Amino acid sequence: MANTFETVGVVGLGTMGAGIAEVFARAGIAVVGVEADPAALERGRGHLEGSTGKALARGRLTEAERDGILGRVTLTTSLGDLADCDLVVEAVPEIMDVKRSLFTELDRICKPSAVLATNTSSLPVTAIAATTSRPGRVVGMHFFNPAPVMKLVEVVRTVTTEDGLADDVAALARRLGKTPVTVGDRAGFVVNRLLLPYLNHAAVLLESGLATRDGIDTAMRLGAGFPMGPLTLLDLIGLDTSYEICEALFAESRERRHAPAPLLRELVAAGLLGRKSGRGFYGEEAPSTPSSE
Ligand code: 3HC
Repeated sequence: MANTFETVGVVGLGTMGAGIAEVFARAGIAVVGVEADPAALERGRGHLEGSTGKALARGRLTEAERDGILGRVTLTTSLGDLADCDLVVEAVPEIMDVKRSLFTELDRICKPSAVLATNTSSLPVTAIAATTSRPGRVVGMHFFNPAPVMKLVEVVRTVTTEDGLADDVAALARRLGKTPVTVGDRAGFVVNRLLLPYLNHAAVLLESGLATRDGIDTAMRLGAGFPMGPLTLLDLIGLDTSYEICEALFAESRERRHAPAPLLRELVAAGLLGRKSGRGFYGEEAPSTPSSE
């Protein structure tokens, strides 16, 4: 019998998790959103209210639709509230130990039929699945930033994923108004595997002084037709996340071109993570590099 997903949980309500919760709620699906502590939960509520408030201000949602979306999201700090969910999507920080212990806990809490999905962009889904007693019911469900806007979901199928499950998750993605692409469990899947080497190279070029920050971004927007320049996009994705994806690509391939740019490493070490921290390549002050204007 095909899996249907009527109640969904989202664990972690940062930029991605809150966006994912919004996507489900917009599709009329009840969502249980979980954060680790009350302060993080309030930040998650802020993301949801901010994003839907912006859509309301732009005339993209009516007040009733906005209220409907927010009303479908139950916010909690208790993982126990996920017990009845048909699907749980994990969107916590990209730290393997954190994900592994969370999946062990979810496996204990969630009903046996529940599907457990990870939004990881850089960690192996197979290894996460292996921490549970139900690896056949674990998949990757990889959304893109900003989740309410970007139309793709990569559905990651591992060697242990049950037959038919990836198709059911792909059908769910279509119900969310997204287009699914099913991919295997290799570092970066398809999008990040192709995108991050390019973004990383932009940081290398900035550091080499080939062009200024704004020059690089303008060149790729106007010369290649990308909606955002690479350094702006790195800031949007988050420099820490970008760094971790490059590390994962490098660890798997051992190809030098995948090694994170030293400038990326330096900005992350300084806590300059892009939009989420208020400053990255852009922000209060640009990083000081040989090519800064
Ligand atoms: N949340 C909700 N809606 C948002 C939003 C957000 N954070 N940001 C923008 N939007 C909406 C706007 O409300 C607007 O909707 P409307 O047309 O219905 O009013 C629409 O998106 C367009 O927004 P803007 O006019 O403000 O801005 P742009 O036209 O410049 O578009 C963009 C913004 C969609 C972010 C566009 O610049 C873009 O596509 N950039 C590339 C993003 C990208 O490549 N993302 C993938 C990164 S890789 C990744 O996420 C994988 C991960 O593993 C790292």
